[in-house]
Amino acid sequence: MSRQVIVSGNWKMHHNHYEAIQFVQKLAALLRTSPLPAGRQATLHPTFTSLRSVQAAVESDAVPVLLGAQDCHAEDRGAYTGEVSAEMLSKLNVSYVIVGHSERRAYCGETDEVVRAKLDAVLRHSMTPILCVGETLEQRQAGDAFAKVSSELAAALGKRPSEVVGALVVAYEPIWAIGTGQSASSSDAEEMAAYVRREVARLAGGEAAVSIRVQYGGSVTPESAAELLACDNVDGLLVGGASLDADSFAAIARAGS
Ligand code: 13P
Repeated sequence: MSRQVIVSGNWKMHHNHYEAIQFVQKLAALLRTSPLPAGRQATLHPTFTSLRSVQAAVESDAVPVLLGAQDCHAEDRGAYTGEVSAEMLSKLNVSYVIVGHSERRAYCGETDEVVRAKLDAVLRHSMTPILCVGETLEQRQAGDAFAKVSSELAAALGKRPSEVVGALVVAYEPIWAIGTGQSASSSDAEEMAAYVRREVARLAGGEAAVSIRVQYGGSVTPESAAELLACDNVDGLLVGGASLDADSFAAIARAGS
């Protein structure tokens, strides 16, 4: 089965809304000259303050990218100062929401329970979660990488209907590869992506394992993208630093075509 490839740009805390608009205008021109290949989806995940501007710029230029967010709160509304709900994101035509990024788990104390509740919220508002999982360097060196990924998957995806799990995106992002310039090798990425699929089969059945999309993330560049995308079980890329430049993001989004 050939799954739709999804290349996502996670801007993290970069690009104010002026810079975001310039990015989209440049990306629009690049993708007009050299379009995305068939069967490929690109998503942009700006900061909350840039979402509305990116949405307007994407719609006015008919740029072939979908809007994404980097996080959301688990509740729909309430006394949660500084938070943004999934319901609010859905009203901005957001299609994809990153959930459980390792930076949020590490710096904002997000537990597996919080990540599961956020995933519930994204689904409740008919958007697609991109669930991030991945091990630290210490865990990899101790031989615990698979156990770590397995426990994060089980906590977020266990006891959900097969068709729900099958429609999700899981991003395997080894923490040691994020922002370090040291990407996982394509064989390590493929090994873990295949493992994610086996775990999904165990948790939600074979059909979910076939249809779920697995991204790799961690120091992806235009140079490494094609080899990573050529892996059988890698259906896309979650890109941080290299997604901040429109030329670089467009090259990654088109890689291997
Ligand atoms: P880098 O591509 O900057 O390593 O970031 C990866 C990431 O965390 C994307 O979510």
